[in-house]
Amino acid sequence: MNKVITLDNPPVNALSFAYSEKILKEIEAAEKDPSVTSVTITGANGYFSAGVDVNDFAKEWDPSGTTVRDIIEAIERSQKVYIAAIDGVALGGALELALACDRRVATPRSKLGLPEIKLGLIPGAGGTQRLPRLIGAQEALQMMLKGETVTAERALELGLIDEIVDAGATATDGALKKRRLSELKVQLPATAQAFALPYIIAQAHKTVPPEESGGLAAHKLIDAVQAAFELPFPRGIAREYRLFDELVGSAPSLALRHLFFAERELSKIPNLPPADPLDIKSAGVVGGGTMGTGIAITFANAGIPVTVVEPSAEQVAKARQTIFGMFMHQVKRGRLTQEEAWKRGQSIEFSDDYAALANCDLVIEAVFENMAVKKEVFAKLDGVVKPGAILASNTSTLDIDEIASVTKRPEQFLGLHFFAPANIMKLLEIVRGKATSAQTLATAFKLAKQLRKVAVLSANAFGFIGNRMFFEYTREAVALAEEGVPPARIDAAMKKFGMAMGPFATFDLSGIDVFWHVAQGRPDLNLARTPILDRLYEQKRLGQKTGKGFYKYAEGSREAIRDEEIEKLFAQLAKEEGVAQHSDVSDDEIAQRIVGALIKSGEEILRDGVALRPGDIDIVWIYGYGFPPHKGGPMWLLRQAQDSGAVAPPAGGLTYA
Ligand code: 3HC
Ligand code: NAI
Repeated sequence: MNKVITLDNPPVNALSFAYSEKILKEIEAAEKDPSVTSVTITGANGYFSAGVDVNDFAKEWDPSGTTVRDIIEAIERSQKVYIAAIDGVALGGALELALACDRRVATPRSKLGLPEIKLGLIPGAGGTQRLPRLIGAQEALQMMLKGETVTAERALELGLIDEIVDAGATATDGALKKRRLSELKVQLPATAQAFALPYIIAQAHKTVPPEESGGLAAHKLIDAVQAAFELPFPRGIAREYRLFDELVGSAPSLALRHLFFAERELSKIPNLPPADPLDIKSAGVVGGGTMGTGIAITFANAGIPVTVVEPSAEQVAKARQTIFGMFMHQVKRGRLTQEEAWKRGQSIEFSDDYAALANCDLVIEAVFENMAVKKEVFAKLDGVVKPGAILASNTSTLDIDEIASVTKRPEQFLGLHFFAPANIMKLLEIVRGKATSAQTLATAFKLAKQLRKVAVLSANAFGFIGNRMFFEYTREAVALAEEGVPPARIDAAMKKFGMAMGPFATFDLSGIDVFWHVAQGRPDLNLARTPILDRLYEQKRLGQKTGKGFYKYAEGSREAIRDEEIEKLFAQLAKEEGVAQHSDVSDDEIAQRIVGALIKSGEEILRDGVALRPGDIDIVWIYGYGFPPHKGGPMWLLRQAQDSGAVAPPAGGLTYA
């Protein structure tokens, strides 16, 4: 008789300590029952299981409690045949459970993976030992290093599953043979000789970042796979368990788990009445410049038809050409097939007439950053776009309520602040105006998910969350440069800290003129120290676009070359302003000052109620500004410093998500 054990622990059948205990009992009962010859493990709620409950190692992971490892060890000891019948997601510890079975089948919609690396961990329930034995070391290592999730079809190609089955098919149809992966040997790639192993391992270590730069878990993963080659199965497993248990308490894993939960908190808005989101079936974009074209492509990528409006036939042609070029670039890079690019291109329409937007469910404006222009655009839009449709502005700095005031639908008005390039960057700031309705906000969060963006709610305040902090961040970088630290050294120190790009390189990429305009527009906020920006602006050193900014650039190149003229300019400004020079600042001090300014600004943003939670700020900086994920974000760093007693918590305290 076949016994079915169903993983049923809503929402995602996570294998918590308590739930693992329950499943272990069911397995023990099946083991004791002589009429049971085989056991099928399957899942309810549309999932197989999302793996170990991440909450269980929120603070400390106690492997002496019942975990999925105990379930797996019970299966390993058993003489009966075990089948994993997967329908839906099978991730982490859940896939490891399936790997302990003799047979694995999955429905076509299933997704399988070992994503532990994304949490700064390695598979810790035998995955690093069994997967290489099943699909080969090279494929296994790649899959685990990327934390990649594969479709059932790909899983079949890899040999990860034995068969694709229809939902509801009995998984016992196949030959019921015992096939324990623990008894197999790890296969080297066909072309490699056994003596090549140390080279393969050494090579793998070279492909991942250093331990202190976010690569800790990756190196441990490679160590574990090496153990799969070199050690007998039980000793390999013991090595993996030890490496996993150590990683659970490591700073990068704590940071990445914080981000996992912070990301899932984002759409929880306190005191917001429940509301059914609208279904956005078609969208419009007004302004097909840098941002508008990227936004239109984002919609096309998500399968939502979109119409782009520019004021004249020539400008329409230009926008069309830009979008065509962006798709062709993707095809050239091998990221998109010609057919797919064509199909997506077909879902974007162009017009020079606002009437083309009449039936859209949502229209996003991305015209020049000028209040008068935006007001004119929205007054027109409000008149032509059907009632009930949502209107949104992509403004970076302007007041959402003031823009909304020219419409008769402020409840259906909000800011949707994309980041450049809009089709690539994952962050979306959702800006709530004073009248924005619960339904409009719910729709924006749902839409963000469809667009594969990470959406963070911001209040309607200057610079919202990200840019307001960015100004403080760059201001401190400029202050350091005035004190005599060369911009190239400051950028290098920030990259060493883990930022994707240094502050001065970012200035040059975005354009000095952009910052200059912002600083001019709001001198009251003292957001940027402007003397240096004034000088660069006067000298038309606008950054990459003019071949000179804080760096110089060879014709047609984006490679930043250190420019001593800039250092001289800073020295001259310092003299004029009486700023003392001291270039004997260490890299760590540079990073501490700049990140310190960022954190201070984050605290102000929380105090002012612009961001809901510290975790929201961290997500903004990770997804929008290239903050290193393994450091968890600026506010997470502050929390670590406070928890360790290095920094006193603020009077009144801050609540952390
Ligand atoms: N543990 C605890 N809770 C989890 C969880 C997990 N492994 N996976 C998801 N959840 C929770 C989420 O926090 C969320 O809770 P909420 O509704 O209270 O906010 C809920 O389940 C639904 O999750 P999503 O909003 O993310 O739903 P989606 O349908 O978009 O995605 C998912 C589902 C693909 C399963 C996604 O949640 C995911 O990728 N989860 C993480 C999977 C993972 O990393 N597993 C490995 C765990 S580590 C491990 O197994 C160690 C082992 O090797 C020893
Ligand atoms: P852009 O100058 O590249 O594009 C603006 C486009 O709007 C132009 O193509 C112009 O022809 C068109 N336009 C102007 N008036 C119009 C009208 N009345 N009707 C239809 N089209 C009109 O500007 P960009 O950089 O795309 O910025 C657009 C908006 O996005 C601004 O509000 C900006 O602050 C914001 N933003 C810009 C970011 C960036 O990095 N460039 C990042 C995030 C937001």
